[in-house]
Amino acid sequence: MSERGAAVEIVGELIDIVGRGHVLTDPETNAGYRTDWTGRFHGHTDVVVRPANTAEVAAVLAVCHERGVPVVPQGGNTGLVGGSVPMHGELVLSTRRLDKIEHVDPVGRTLAAGAGVTVARVQQAAREHGLDIGVDLASRDSATLGGIVATNAGGVRVIKNGGTRAQLLGIEAVRSDGCVVTRWKELTKDNVGYDLPGLLAGSEGTLAVITRVLMRLVVPVPQTVVALVAVPSVDAALVLLDRVQRHGLRLEAAEFMTAAGVDLVCRHTGLRAPFGDDAPIYLLLEVPGAGEAENALSALFTDTVLDATLEAGPARTLWRYRERHTESISAESRTPAVKLDVSVPLRVLADFFTTLDSRLRDEHPDVRVICFGHIADGNVHVNVLDVPAEKQHAITDFVLRLVADHQGSISAEHGVGHAKAAWIELGRSANDIDTMKRIRAAFDPAGILNPHVLPR
Ligand code: FAD
Ligand code: MLT
Ligand code: ZN
Repeated sequence: MSERGAAVEIVGELIDIVGRGHVLTDPETNAGYRTDWTGRFHGHTDVVVRPANTAEVAAVLAVCHERGVPVVPQGGNTGLVGGSVPMHGELVLSTRRLDKIEHVDPVGRTLAAGAGVTVARVQQAAREHGLDIGVDLASRDSATLGGIVATNAGGVRVIKNGGTRAQLLGIEAVRSDGCVVTRWKELTKDNVGYDLPGLLAGSEGTLAVITRVLMRLVVPVPQTVVALVAVPSVDAALVLLDRVQRHGLRLEAAEFMTAAGVDLVCRHTGLRAPFGDDAPIYLLLEVPGAGEAENALSALFTDTVLDATLEAGPARTLWRYRERHTESISAESRTPAVKLDVSVPLRVLADFFTTLDSRLRDEHPDVRVICFGHIADGNVHVNVLDVPAEKQHAITDFVLRLVADHQGSISAEHGVGHAKAAWIELGRSANDIDTMKRIRAAFDPAGILNPHVLPR
């Protein structure tokens, strides 16, 4: 049976499980579930199902498994590689109704919530206890706990807390055959058997549907200083980063932008340019402390620093230059931006950056490239604007091969999805891919979970 027709055949069973109001078959109502945030991936589906809890997810998957209906799990649909979009008519299983915050334990510093709870709601719940989750990203108002686990999302706090996988204490998930797996110990140390939560982190909806998440909480620093620093090059930015850390100032965040990106954000948002003159590179640093830290930072801004401004955290205006990049690029590009989230070793970051810039200018003068990202992680968000549809593949191929030439990763934090599926051999050996396929076949022998994402 074609993937397209399969889901329609089970609408009756789905209604029996979740209720008529949560089986969406009307194309109008389904529209928001079919296209990704960037507008680049347009899928199609006959059915969106919205289960309310683990038991309903298990019952839905058991029917899909029995009838061979392919399923795309979807959280906030803010993913940037098309992994949450039904590109082949798959049934969409939306986790948005898994939206209960179960507990915040300020003593053990743990939080338990449904996979459909947004990052912002979880942050709010933790902050009511003077705590926080270790991940923060600009899509916080829509991105869900299940989604950040499934993509092993990074964000602006990786330099301090690690990515989403590092925050995980436990997970409840449903295999494609409807079997519920619960690994749920409110313990910092629990070393019994394989790390199932860690394995589901980054699995992009291909191994199981995550229904509940148990996360560790972090203690936020009471005060921070945020600095926006203009420097002449990536090398100068790395030298300054190193100097700040060697001085004993711990990094809460370290982001970079370029003149093209800051200029575009200012045009799109109406923000004033941060300094009188444009700078090749802007470094956005956040360190713990107040006056003393501010003086210590300023004292480090010597030789290569072109200009700088410092503010007490949260310094929302300074952060706005960085956080508004994604939406400004999306609004400004004449075609859906080709978004390539990559990482390279810091020692070759400057060379990658200059080679990318000069070769794109020479070989593809009709496109615009805007780079920004999490510099201390070596994570560059290469956004190529105004790319005609027929050139998307060539541009992606050029950038990802340049990353591979620099011993980098074709995906730093967004996952592979549909956007990079054709390039997974860049940096993953045949044995590595074969092992991933064997793990996937063990979890989902019927191959119904997100079948066109990651190797199968
Ligand atoms: P979706 O987009 O719905 O799904 C993403 C993937 O996870 C899909 O493959 C889907 O099948 C799977 N999935 C979703 N929920 C589940 C579940 N419960 N069980 C199993 N599989 C599931 N990402 C970063 O890493 N760092 C950033 O700094 C960052 N900033 C962003 C800023 C903006 C403005 C935007 C729009 C996006 C940004 N992202 C960033 C990308 C995106 O927010 C993350 O990838 C996020 O983790 C996606 O969460 P989601 O709930 O929207 O998942
Ligand atoms: C970010 O860091 O802002 C995100 O990863 C989003 C993007 O790459 O656009
Ligand atoms: Zn990012």
